[in-house]
Order: sequence, then C-alpha cells, then structure tokens
Amino acid sequence: MGSILIVDDEAGIRSMLEVVLRRDGHAVCTAGSGTEAITRLEADHGIELVLSDLRMEGLDGLGLLRALKDRHQGVFTIIMTAYAEWDTAVSAMHLGAYDVLRKPFDNSAVRALAARALAARDRWLAAKAAGEHTAPVHLVGSSPAILAVQALIERIGSTDSTVLVTGESGTGKELVARALHYSGLRADGAMMRINSGALSPGLLESELFGHVKGAFTGAVEDRPGLFELAHKGTLFLDEVGDLAPETQVKLLRLLENGEFIPVGGREVRRCDVRVVAATNRDLQAMVKAGTFREDLYYRLAVIPVHLPPLRDRREDIPLLAGHLLARHAVKLRRGITGFAPDALQAMQSWPWQGNIRELDNRIQRGVALTPDGLIPRDNLFGDVAPALPAMDGGHGSENPALAQHLAGGGAIDLEGEMLRHERALVEAALNRTGDNLTEAAKLLGISFRQIRYKVRQLGLR
Ligand SMILES: Nc1ncnc2c1ncn2[C@@H]1O[C@H](COP(=O)(O)OP(=O)(O)OP(=O)(O)O)[C@@H](O)[C@H]1O
Ligand SMILES: [Mg+2]
Repeated sequence: MGSILIVDDEAGIRSMLEVVLRRDGHAVCTAGSGTEAITRLEADHGIELVLSDLRMEGLDGLGLLRALKDRHQGVFTIIMTAYAEWDTAVSAMHLGAYDVLRKPFDNSAVRALAARALAARDRWLAAKAAGEHTAPVHLVGSSPAILAVQALIERIGSTDSTVLVTGESGTGKELVARALHYSGLRADGAMMRINSGALSPGLLESELFGHVKGAFTGAVEDRPGLFELAHKGTLFLDEVGDLAPETQVKLLRLLENGEFIPVGGREVRRCDVRVVAATNRDLQAMVKAGTFREDLYYRLAVIPVHLPPLRDRREDIPLLAGHLLARHAVKLRRGITGFAPDALQAMQSWPWQGNIRELDNRIQRGVALTPDGLIPRDNLFGDVAPALPAMDGGHGSENPALAQHLAGGGAIDLEGEMLRHERALVEAALNRTGDNLTEAAKLLGISFRQIRYKVRQLGLR
C-alpha cells in the first residue's frame, strides 16, 4: 500500500483510477495538470508514486518527469499514454520513468503495475539505506593512491575550491564527490547531482540555471535550477567533458563570480555552491583539440583528483572484496565467511575493465550463488564455467538430467540458477541486437529501464 498521485486532465479517468487504487488500500490524491502535480509534490513529501498522463496542456508527462528527476528522486513514475508510440515511451524511460502504461488499459493492469512500482521503490530505498550513502563516506583501500585521495579529502573538506575527479568508469568518482560533500563544511547543505551528458544543451542549462516563466513552450512558471537548489551545498557535475561550448561559457562565469542568468531571464542571480566535477574523458587532450575551454579546465581542476584503474592498484582488491562481500552477505542474509583460495587468486589476475563497479557486481553474483561458507572462483567468474544440467524440461515434463542430479542427493541453488539463466538470456539478446539495449529489451519483453538495470547488475557490459 502506498501513497499515489494521479495526474490526468480528464476528470473521468482521474476518478476511475482513484476508485480502483483506493480499493487496493492506497492513499490516492489527484491533479489535473503537470503544474498542479508539482505543487502537490512540493507540498506533500509523502507521495511515493506518480501515475501521469503523457499528453496534457501546459506541462506534460515528460515535462513532469524532468521536474521529478532531480528534485524528487524518491518518487517513482508511471506514464500513461494513448499514443503508444515507441519514441515517447523511450523518452519517458530515459527521463527515469519506472514504466509506461498503454491506454486503454484494464483495471487489473493498473493495479498490478502500481503494486510493482511501489515494491520496486521499497527495494530502491533499502538498497540506498544499505549502501554507502551514510556519512561520513569512507573510501576502502590501502594503496598509496587511495590513501593520498583520502588524505586530500580530509584536507580540502573545509575549503570550497572546485575539484575535478578523473578516472575510468567505475573507479569511484561519485563516491569521492560524496565523501567531499559529507566530510566538508557543506555537509548540512544539499548535494545535487547532474549528468551533463544525458541532456540536450538547452535542457541542461535549464536544469542547471533554472528558467523563467515563458522561456520556452512548457515553461509555465519560474523554476529554480540546481545551482539555486544546491545553495550552500555541493553540485556534482558528472561527465563534465560532455558540456556544449555555450554551456561551458556559462559555467565558467558561474565558477568565476557565482553569477548566472536563468534561461529566458534578464536579471543576474548569485549562488554559493561548491562544484565537484567528474569525467572519464581526457580533458587535457580535449583542451588541446579545442573542444574544451582551457580557462574552464583550469577553473575546474583547481584541485585534481585522479582515481587509477583497479588493475593498477591490485593491493586494494582484497580489502574492497571483503568490504563488498560483507555488504552483500548481510543484505542477502547469507552465512558466507570469505573467498576460496582459487577465487582470491582469480580476482588478483582479472583485468577489471569495469573497475570497482564490476568487482561489486561479481561479488553480488557470487553471494547470490553461494549458500554459505567460502565463495568459489566459479561463482564469481562462472560466465565461463559449466552450469548445472539444463533445467528446462519442456512442458512440465521432468528433465532427466535434473532428476538424476536430485536422485544423487544433489541440491539446487534456485536463486543462483535463475541468475545464471537470466544472464545467459540477456547476453544472448544483447549479442543478437549488437548491444542495442532498446532492441534487446523488446526481445526480452522487459522495459528499457529494466534491461539497463540488469545489464549493470549482472556486470555484462
Ligand atoms: N574506494 C572505494 N571503497 C568502497 N567502494 C567503492 C570505492 N570506489 C568505488 N566504490 C564503489 O564502486 C561503485 C562505483 O563507484 P562510482 O559510482 O563512484 O564510480 P564512477 O567513477 O562514478 O563510475 P562512472 O564513471 O561509471 O559513473 C559504487 O558502488 C561505489 O560505492
Ligand atoms: Mg559516476
């Protein structure tokens, strides 16, 4: 049971949904437009799920999603659309919708989807709480590089200089940004994050600097940007190497004198925000190539922090592995005591292209596949290992290999088998579509968001 906001400009649909969802025990409120929905969300922080129409006058479903994205991250969204065009559905998913519901739909579909979204949100919250989001953030590792970064974070925690964090994907750039925020003077302020590469330049500027009413179609009221919202806090500017040239100029001005002008506005505003930027691109090379402003580079890199790839600091692997193992074992309530010697050895020689994120994914997988005791090598790197006898015996008929396995006293790790199977299917779909997530999701009959999540979870790409 959850708290749901229904957004639709048709009163009939609103009341129909209200009745249906109330009957399931949800607390339901309604809004007749995107703008009204935002007002409601600002006033009521208990709302967990938004069920919104796509086409509405003024602020439409996509506009609402954009507004929700950074401002109300804990609110999950389902977009309803009569115009079930793939394009719009994909845009909605890109904007972070939980799922899309095609109109017309029957009551059971809405009820099931709402329940699923609320459950997913619960898991998301639990993962967030169990994760490293609690302050102060600790960087695990004993390599000279990590110790130096840790010392630097402590040293500059009480300053306000801009920090540029560089490193390959999965090396911990965001974690460093959070550590900087939570160990510094601004820990009580907000920490906002934006991925500069994910939005078009126009949208990004509106997100960063806000916009005034009438700045563009859909700008029905003034809206503050992230710099205003992060006032006295920190803004984490991820993928800063993707900034368009015109946005680079505006960011430079902000960094130099704290001034900015909202999109469509005239008057200059000021803010007090510490910027932590990150990139996995070579900004210096971009400066040389003329695609990144040199003056902005120096402004951002007041304090550079570089995170070396995991393969260059292998001494951190046992510590990190132990830390991640403990986290996942607790989460999955497994009595796992450590890694088998062959697993430790394999971890030491693995290339770790995906760095710590890949380590994390593999350990999560290992924990899921191991009931107790030590995690063997194959449960971490089992992509290359033989699996149990194939489990699909066809229409209810018993699989002889499986029967034999059970008769011989063999046990089955259901969760592990499911993971293995899931992984094989996702991988097959990705191979078939040449790594096209949208197409692969279609093949598998799951949403874009789901496949993106699975690919990450399974450490596939
Ligand atoms: N030193 C560390 N100690 C503990 N956990 C770490 C450490 N470094 C990274 N992690 C964990 O590894 C995962 C990836 O880290 P993070 O998201 O910060 O990487 P990133 O560099 O921002 O990656 P990307 O470029 O792909 O966005 C996170 O779950 C993070 O908590
Ligand atoms: Mg990151």
